[in-house]
Amino acid sequence: MVDLPTWGPDTWRNKPIRQSPKYGDAAAAERVVARLRSLPPLVFSGEIEHLRQALGRVCVGEAFLLHGGDCAERFTECESDRIVRKLKILLQMSLVLTHGARTPVVRLGRMAGQFAKPRSGETELVGGHEIPVYRGDLINDLEPTLAARTPDPSRMLDAYFHSAASLNFIRALVDGGFTDLKHPEHWQLDFMAGAAKRSEYEAIADRIRDAIDFFETLGHTGSLRDPIAFFTSHEGLHLPYEEALTRRPPRRDGFYNLGAHFIWIGDRTRGLDEAHVEYARGLENPIGVKIGPSCADDELSRLVEILSPDGSPGRLTLITRYGASQIDGHLPRHVKAVQRTGIPVIWSADPMHGNTTTTTGGLKTRRFDDILAELERAFVLHRALGTRLGGLHFELTGQDVTECVGGSQGLTEQDLARQYETGCDPRLNYSQSLEMAFLAAELLASARSSA
Ligand code: PEP
Ligand code: CO
Repeated sequence: MVDLPTWGPDTWRNKPIRQSPKYGDAAAAERVVARLRSLPPLVFSGEIEHLRQALGRVCVGEAFLLHGGDCAERFTECESDRIVRKLKILLQMSLVLTHGARTPVVRLGRMAGQFAKPRSGETELVGGHEIPVYRGDLINDLEPTLAARTPDPSRMLDAYFHSAASLNFIRALVDGGFTDLKHPEHWQLDFMAGAAKRSEYEAIADRIRDAIDFFETLGHTGSLRDPIAFFTSHEGLHLPYEEALTRRPPRRDGFYNLGAHFIWIGDRTRGLDEAHVEYARGLENPIGVKIGPSCADDELSRLVEILSPDGSPGRLTLITRYGASQIDGHLPRHVKAVQRTGIPVIWSADPMHGNTTTTTGGLKTRRFDDILAELERAFVLHRALGTRLGGLHFELTGQDVTECVGGSQGLTEQDLARQYETGCDPRLNYSQSLEMAFLAAELLASARSSA
């Protein structure tokens, strides 16, 4: 056990912090934060406790986690059609996984608040001028001008209201049962044209639709109304915002971040004695940490002890992101470092962030085959190490974008310029996401049958 000093929602302020832009007008920022503090919560502590229980089941192998959504949400993309499509692809993927592996799937969206981004540099050169980098809509605007890139505290309020609007709509869709998924036109498998797997996937989609229809006939549209229906998450990066939404609800002992159900710490801000770890360690929410190749073994053991001091299953999810060519070199040592603590964690694989490349034309992309290869290795390595892969983490969208190459659609680097929309990292599009879910379901089914 580690002995840690008293925690409060603001004790992070005494620690060194990374990735934290300064506002020119500190008094204006304080006014915004004060306003945020007085606004109602976005989620309820009871929902957070439900998620924690559901993740407890994931941790012991009774359920699986699907975590996904945009790299960076944009205020301008807070639109009905986009939200419907993103929810639809996440639900479809979860149904495919449930069907393939006969296991309940906890769905966690990178949605309704994923507005802050860590970046590798402070500034970039645009047309010979050095301007601050884009840090997510919570901080500044993507438009490459000095004015747009200057951090603006009023964006914290905009982020809150856009999160509320998204969440309200997500709740309505989930509450309605989203039974549209029983209709064939909602399962677009035509991208598989000519592929050997197409008829197999169509048969699976048919069976899933039949099952939804059957339950609806019985009056049980409730499978999606279930508390484990859908939860929200974002990277807890901009701590003044996160602190303002951290509350002690009536009749509860601890503090909850009521801006999302689940908060994660990024790979760049997981320093042991730094602000982001300090902030997250005291929350009642289940939390995640991204773990990449640079994480030392001792560092990881201590991180797990700090973030999950009482070792309750479901409290901590480690989201590994090494890259297909690096996972073999790092996952085994990390698994052993965690095993030495005796603390149970959920191992989730993010096969996106270690597989980013840049095309000769200068666009960031990811290859479908690299993403799949990292997933395959994650399943194999966990099995060999006596641990279990409990979740998958994707950057995806329900739109037909062209940001990642490969998949049965056959997108090439030449296709990327056609519909390249992301403000940050490249996402799997609808077809690539659905195909990935079918492939992951096979991997998960065989991992479970051989367990
Ligand atoms: C992300 O999830 O968008 C991200 C920045 O990831 P990481 O912290 O793993 O680099
Ligand atoms: Co990203």
